[in-house]
Amino acid sequence: MLRISADFDELDLALIHRFLSADSYWAAGIPRDTLNRALRNSVCCGVFLDGIGQVAFARAVTDQATFAYLADVFVLPEHRGRGHGRAVVEALMADPRLQGMRRWHLITRDMQPLYAKLGFVPLTQPERHMQRHDPDIYTRTP
Ligand SMILES: CC(C)(COP(=O)(O)OP(=O)(O)OC[C@H]1O[C@@H](n2cnc3c(N)ncnc32)[C@H](O)[C@@H]1OP(=O)(O)O)[C@@H](O)C(=O)NCCC(=O)NCCS
Repeated sequence: MLRISADFDELDLALIHRFLSADSYWAAGIPRDTLNRALRNSVCCGVFLDGIGQVAFARAVTDQATFAYLADVFVLPEHRGRGHGRAVVEALMADPRLQGMRRWHLITRDMQPLYAKLGFVPLTQPERHMQRHDPDIYTRTP
């Protein structure tokens, strides 16, 4: 049976760290304590299968009032293509702490089709958005 939970204490922190640090293109090498701090300060959601454990994850970086940034969405490779990715994002966006947001934001290399089904559109005024970005921060030796 499938269960989706936003209970932080149910999350498999080791599994989330393993996937993000080793298999994601956006958080490669992220230290475990940095990730744990990030997760603690986010609204998180996981998909769990009976007898298997956690197979999917998503989180929102948010003030829980006006703005949320959707991040770290993944499904373990052997469980993809069965709706878990969409389900975990939908469940996260339905969380009571994340209602009434003026803006949701996300960045994706190639999953625009997934997020388009959930109401996301490309930036309408990209010239108004700015960033400070340090993509090598997790892997740079001090
Ligand atoms: C992206 C990811 C989370 C999708 O999870 P998933 O469980 O395979 O996706 P789902 O089965 O829920 O698919 C949801 C929808 O997205 C679409 N979709 C899924 N993978 C897709 C792909 N590779 N290309 C285009 N569309 C895709 C599906 O068509 C599906 O549409 P439907 O609901 O109308 O059937 C998963 O492939 C993954 O973990 N990828 C590696 C990590 C990653 O890239 N994360 C996203 C970072 S922005």
